[in-house]
Parts: sequence; structure tokens; C-alpha cells
Amino acid sequence: MDALQQALSNLREPARLAPTHTAARLEDALRFVGSDLAEVEARLRSWSEKGVAPGTDAARHLLLAGGKRVRPLLVLLAARAFGGVSEAALDLAAVAEMVHTATLLHDDVLDDAAERRGVPVARRVYGNAVSVLAGDLLLVRSLEVAQRADAARFPDLLSTLRALVEGEIIQLRGRTRLDPSEETYFRIVEDKTASLFGWAAAAGARTQGASAQAQEALTRFGRHLGVAFQLVDDVIDYEGQGTGKTLFTDLGEGKITLPLILALRDDPSLLPEVERVRAGDADPMTRIAARVRELGTADRVRARARVETEAALAALATLPASPARDLLAKVAEDLTIRVL
Ligand code: FPP
Ligand code: MG
Repeated sequence: MDALQQALSNLREPARLAPTHTAARLEDALRFVGSDLAEVEARLRSWSEKGVAPGTDAARHLLLAGGKRVRPLLVLLAARAFGGVSEAALDLAAVAEMVHTATLLHDDVLDDAAERRGVPVARRVYGNAVSVLAGDLLLVRSLEVAQRADAARFPDLLSTLRALVEGEIIQLRGRTRLDPSEETYFRIVEDKTASLFGWAAAAGARTQGASAQAQEALTRFGRHLGVAFQLVDDVIDYEGQGTGKTLFTDLGEGKITLPLILALRDDPSLLPEVERVRAGDADPMTRIAARVRELGTADRVRARARVETEAALAALATLPASPARDLLAKVAEDLTIRVL
């Protein structure tokens, strides 16, 4: 199966479980960058082989297990919106995916995760230590490539990496110190998800010499899109909609996400039950989730995601019109209405 077919089939699988127009529309964007995406996949395959086993095996285990390739898509579409895809754009698209994969190899250790993308996580196949080191390998490779391809703005990648780490640390703090505030929640989301989306969108445009103003608009686009993406992710954890995804994972992992934050505000009597779950008792989990549903906070979080998407689209509207710009807008729409 070639790279494009793989990416499309990754999208079709969710569509089979929960039909929406999402897959069909993301397909437009994936087709538009089809041959570029194949080049990116070739880079990912080749770069993930460099290093020593079993680190390389664990890196390849996740990197080649599929994924929506949203971050490379942003790099490639942003580059196309400003004229075309250069070797540097292909490199940076691969960097976006490698950094993302590195964070997940670490994250699955932090979260004690069992499965990702329908297969056992690397840490279960190779062990926690190898999963962490595999993430390190990909991270180092990403830095090498980015330094070569984007030397002038290399510090932007470093600050993005710092944000990813800090977001994760703040989130981790929440395991021992309950902090159901929107402020902390949005700080985590901005750092752990939106930062890399913003970097990816701006990086693509930069390879084509886009103006500082245009890069700034794309950073805003990517960041708002990243927030919307994470909000939807956090809703899906509570509503599931028969998608086959494990429900209530976040609560089980000690994460207080917006659907629960809003529910706690509406019904503070939920707090002792949340505390019980955090102390290791899984029993109250079903009732908490049912109450979150009753209170309808998921709908409010989806509405908030919509607001973020609108802000992303407004940033995009400041850029010159082009088919690639329209597809970036479609990607933003698609990711907001997704159910998996
Ligand atoms: C997934 O979140 C995790 C992230 C978006 C970022 C993880 C970042 C780190 C582990 C620190 C930085 C690491 C490097 C290599 C720079 P999630 O657990 O909410 O989502 P999930 O359900 O997909 O696991
Ligand atoms: Mg996780």
C-alpha cells in the first residue's frame, strides 16, 4: 500500500465506524498533497531506520502504524499556499510528524497506555525504557533535520518543544493536585497540542519565503486549530458515540478536561466522586460520565471548539486566496466535526 492509500485508509476506518463527511473532506486535502505526502512517508521510513535497535524498532512501530498525518498536512498545504513544496518543506513536514511521534512514545509511558492506533503501544512491545529512548532518537533526528532545513527559525522549534514538555509537566502536576480550572486546562492544551500545530503551519509558509505577517497568521491559524482539535479529542473521551474508542481514559489517567471542569462547576457534588477515582477507585467513573452527559457539557465544549475553529478561519482569511488555503480551511472544519 502506498503512502497516500495508507493515509486514506487510516481515515476510512473511522468513517466505517461512525460515518460523517469528515473522512471524505480530509481526503481532498490528502489527495491534493498526495505525491508530497508520499515523499514525506519515504523520509519517515528512511530516517526511522537510522540509529540502533531496538530504539529504531520501537520508533518504527509507532511511526509506521498509521495516523492522520495532520501536522505534515499543515506544513505541505501552507507551503502550497505560498507557491509550492520544496525539499525543505518535505523535510519540515516529516519533522512535524517525527516530533509528534516522539512525544507519543514518551506520553504512552507517562500515561501507562495500552493501545494506540489500534495496536499495542511500543512500550508494551519493547518496554518503557526503549519507548522513551526511541522518542529521543526521533527527537534528535528532528532537530538535525530542522536545523539544516530551517536554520534561521530553529529557535521556534526549540520553544515549541519547550511548550510540549511544559504542557505535559503541568498536566502531570494535576495528578497529585486537583486543579479543575479552565485557565490551567487551556494552558495545557495550548502547550501540549496547539504549539506544534502552530509551528507546522508557519513552517510550511516559511519555506516559501512568506512574509512575517503571513507566518504570524498561520501560527494563529494552527494554534486555534490545535485547541479545537484537543477540545474535540477531550469530548470524544466522554461521548465516544460508538466509535470503538475506550471511554473515560482521561479521567482514569488523572486528567481533568473541559467536559468535566464544566460539569464540576454545574454540579459540585461530583467532586468527592472525582476524588475517589483519582484515589484509584474506578467505581464512580460510570456515574461521573453519565452526569457529564446529563449536564450536556460535551455540547458546550464542542461549541467552544467551533469558536476556536472560527478564529482559525479568520486568521486564514487574511492570507491570499488559493486552493491550498481553501483546503486548510476544510481541514479545520473536518477536524472540528470529527467523532473519532
Ligand atoms: C498526547 O496527549 C500527548 C501530547 C499531545 C504531548 C506529549 C508531550 C510530551 C510527552 C513531552 C514532550 C516530549 C518530547 C519528546 C518533546 P494525550 O495523552 O492527552 O493524548 P492521547 O490520548 O493520544 O494519549
Ligand atoms: Mg496519552
